Amino acid sequence: MGDNLLANMAGSEDHELDRGLRPQGLEEYIGQDRVKESLQIFISAALARGEPLDHVLLYGPPGVGKTTLARVIAHELQVQAVITSGPALERPGDLAAILTNLQPRDVFFIDEIHRLSHNVEEMLYAAMEDFCLDIIIGKGPAARTLRVDLAPFTLVGATTRTGLLTSPLRNRFGVNLRLEFYQPEDLQRIVQRSAQLLAVGIETEAAAEIAGRARGTPRVANRLLKRVRDYAQVRASGVITLAVVREAMQVLQIDEYGLDETDRQILATLIHKFNGGPVGLETLAASVAEAPETVEDVVEPYLLRLGFLQRTPRGRIATALAYRHLDLA
Ligand code: ADE
Repeated sequence: MGDNLLANMAGSEDHELDRGLRPQGLEEYIGQDRVKESLQIFISAALARGEPLDHVLLYGPPGVGKTTLARVIAHELQVQAVITSGPALERPGDLAAILTNLQPRDVFFIDEIHRLSHNVEEMLYAAMEDFCLDIIIGKGPAARTLRVDLAPFTLVGATTRTGLLTSPLRNRFGVNLRLEFYQPEDLQRIVQRSAQLLAVGIETEAAAEIAGRARGTPRVANRLLKRVRDYAQVRASGVITLAVVREAMQVLQIDEYGLDETDRQILATLIHKFNGGPVGLETLAASVAEAPETVEDVVEPYLLRLGFLQRTPRGRIATALAYRHLDLA
């Protein structure tokens, strides 16, 4: 996928830079106004009562800032954020080790929370509801449970779709927030803010051009900005102009909608091999050698939003817009 390609091209210092580019507090966080407004209210109320914030479920497409927002929530609550992911918590013991080390009102963030194993998820229920763990000691008839009290904490869970969660887990979140793709104006502000932090000059139109190709996400916007900065440094005067952005995008093979090779390959495959569809997700993913989950969660949401693709009960179909974009009648 293009995202990975860009990640691979990026230097190892990119993670450091990403950390530097992240907003710390809600004040600095650009976009997602509806979500920010809700959080501001719930956080102020929790702080005023001296209580932990209710558990928060964040859902939305990859790259829209779920991890960033979890850190922002911790910053606003003036507590630490402990960060992990569903697949990383393999056994209940992994979860117990983290939970027993939390300080009161800490934020515990689990990314891809829909990928928790059954046992770990079971243990999480009591932790979320009663702030305790029931640990089973021994085996067979001699087994007994030991109840361990935990510091009251806020669980922030992130997933791409709430439908992926079991209902007992979903029901234990007091706050549900949907993060959307960002508006181009918000992405432009993010690009301008990041450029300032990276101490690189950028023209307004150039920032807008990067924003327009960022697939609605700050993650892609910041990544493109860094690649364009490299390009400006080596091939131009160092300042990011509209011309520099357009040339760099040509080299990166990212078109004016932000589509990369993978996106175009999927649309082209759908159109040429399957007559525009309908075709099932598995078949489509296999024919471009991608995992179905990657196609469904990473590639498709943006194509759907652009109106290039539709999901129907019988499978995926390419729209007239997709034909036009690929210059096909
Ligand atoms: N960097 C990444 N996401 C951001 C956001 N939402 N606001 C400001 N800077 C960001």
